[in-house]
Amino acid sequence: MVMRLFEERRSIRKYEERPVEEEKLRAVLEAGRLAPSWANLQCWSFIVVKDPAARQAVSEKLEKNPAQKAVAQAPVLIAVCADPSKSGHHDGMDYYLVDIGITLEHMVLEAWNQGLGTCWVGLFNEAEIKPILGIPDDIRLVALTPLGYPAKYPDDRGRKPLEEIVFYERYGQL
Ligand SMILES: Cc1cc2nc3c(=O)[nH]c(=O)nc-3n(C[C@H](O)[C@H](O)[C@H](O)COP(=O)(O)O)c2cc1C
Repeated sequence: MVMRLFEERRSIRKYEERPVEEEKLRAVLEAGRLAPSWANLQCWSFIVVKDPAARQAVSEKLEKNPAQKAVAQAPVLIAVCADPSKSGHHDGMDYYLVDIGITLEHMVLEAWNQGLGTCWVGLFNEAEIKPILGIPDDIRLVALTPLGYPAKYPDDRGRKPLEEIVFYERYGQL
């Protein structure tokens, strides 16, 4: 069942206008809430943006991003924020990015389970978008996703075969 989700999920960049039911939105957010995190600190917060003017304003800051139109078109936009002081920094690695990766992927998969599409959006200028959503200086805006009913199911983008990415016992050993 979970494997089917992994196989069938796609990044959706075309959406229907149809609104997302509150209980489905709630299930998606709940999936994010249940994600594991560094020391269970749950550094995240989610901004649910339905206001078309705000979605349009964010979209205008996503010039040349393949998901630009989707952000204005989908009935819901979720902004995923992190408070880095509530996560780990160890050995040169910032774990708030990992925490956000997990929580958003939980939401992405539950959305698909509910028949809804999403698209990770990570390529943006944070400083331009934060003021639109009233995000404080010490909070990072890590990712965005549109959320809504898919209007188009894209082809499989493909993945590297296991033979290319799995080593045994030592790095580089096939
Ligand atoms: C961290 C991250 C950032 C991404 N940023 C963007 C983005 O800014 N714009 C976009 O259109 N897609 C973005 N994507 C979606 C990827 O392009 C997509 O997942 C990949 O091409 C594989 O396609 P699939 O999700 O349909 O399998 C991002 C994905 C990840 C995981």
